[in-house]
Amino acid sequence: MKLLEDRIKKDGQVIGTDVLKVDNFLNHQVDPDLMADLGKEFYRRFSNEPITKILTVESSGIAPAIATAMEFHKPLVFARKHKSLTLKDHLYTATVYSFTKKTSNEIAISRKFLSADDNVLIIDDFLANGQAVEGLMEIIAQAGATLSGVGIVIEKTFQKGRKLLDDKHVRVESLARISAFEDGHVIFAPED
Ligand code: G4P
Repeated sequence: MKLLEDRIKKDGQVIGTDVLKVDNFLNHQVDPDLMADLGKEFYRRFSNEPITKILTVESSGIAPAIATAMEFHKPLVFARKHKSLTLKDHLYTATVYSFTKKTSNEIAISRKFLSADDNVLIIDDFLANGQAVEGLMEIIAQAGATLSGVGIVIEKTFQKGRKLLDDKHVRVESLARISAFEDGHVIFAPED
């Protein structure tokens, strides 16, 4: 998606050899107009699927996921990483290991928000090692729901997440695909 690639070139900051900082428009300060465009693009790509729920993990997946949910006019459910006063029982849970942060998080969704009748579209900000998506897929399986596809804002093709999902025959649509960072510059791979 050219608009997104241009924004990454303009505002993304390469950190070391494998991390892109996008806190100016995606995961700290959020550009609402860009989110609306991302939501429309995910809708265009997945509108042939009978989606009933959009699913993501807090926190950085929520902005693109709500924009997508607004296009589909279907609910967004986000997995929580922390138990809250009101989220205690009747949960689907999965453990997600973050290679970036070297920590494990339990993610949880209330059973009342996902059922065997649901066709789910997962939306997330980054696809790196694929652990977050794998955790959400585990929860979808627990609910007996159907996974219709995965929409990713920024995929890093040099990490193992995409292969993991391709091997499971999951439909993945990434709006920007990064194949490498070279001398502080982003090298884009062809779009899906
Ligand atoms: P995964 O997202 O494919 O599971 O891979 P990984 O375990 O490596 O990612 C762990 C966390 O780091 C995720 O956020 C993911 O979105 C984020 N991340 C991965 N690569 C990059 C990158 O290049 N730039 C930035 N800015 N973030 C990256 P999280 O732990 O779920 O945190 P949150 O921000 O959603 O709360």
